[in-house]
Amino acid sequence: MSPTRSEISLHVNGKTHTLSADNRTTLLDALREQLGLTGTKKGCDHGQCGACTVLVDGRRAVSCLQLAVAAEGTAITTIEGIADGDQLHPVQEAFLELDGYQCGYCTPGQICSAVAVIQEHAEGWPSAATDDVRPGAETALDAEEIRERMSGNLCRCGAYTAIVRAVAQAAGNPVTAETKVMA
Ligand code: FES
Ligand code: FES
Repeated sequence: MSPTRSEISLHVNGKTHTLSADNRTTLLDALREQLGLTGTKKGCDHGQCGACTVLVDGRRAVSCLQLAVAAEGTAITTIEGIADGDQLHPVQEAFLELDGYQCGYCTPGQICSAVAVIQEHAEGWPSAATDDVRPGAETALDAEEIRERMSGNLCRCGAYTAIVRAVAQAAGNPVTAETKVMA
């Protein structure tokens, strides 16, 4: 085995894959080019657009900035693993229902991010838009919070208004989001 390559195991969407990869291979390229999981998109390849967002141990990560070798031992979820079999995730259903996309290229990253945003908010993590950051303070996941928390995911089609509505609906807060988006 060349010292520039490693045999690694990646646990993706509940399955373990063993592969040989150049040590410089990003998680994004390993997912797309070696595991065939092309739902995760490459936009900038520089950590700036969020198109490549996946969940690593339940937290959001831009997979173009993470080396595949460093992802060993983690549980990775890509857009292909967000649904529960034929049952779409509530975030996926909300994006479909509310047209949270146009071309769809950013959508896998948006959805993965939104799944984690809702979880982060439920766990009490503050954002830069949170007024009261004291532990235990109640903060609604309103449009401002969603915009801030989703700000790492760019959409060149500009579908932001519908994306915010979709995230709000999936989080069970559609009325608040509707009101503030339209204000
Ligand atoms: Fe990873 Fe743009 S492709 S952030
Ligand atoms: Fe086209 Fe977002 S839907 S880039």
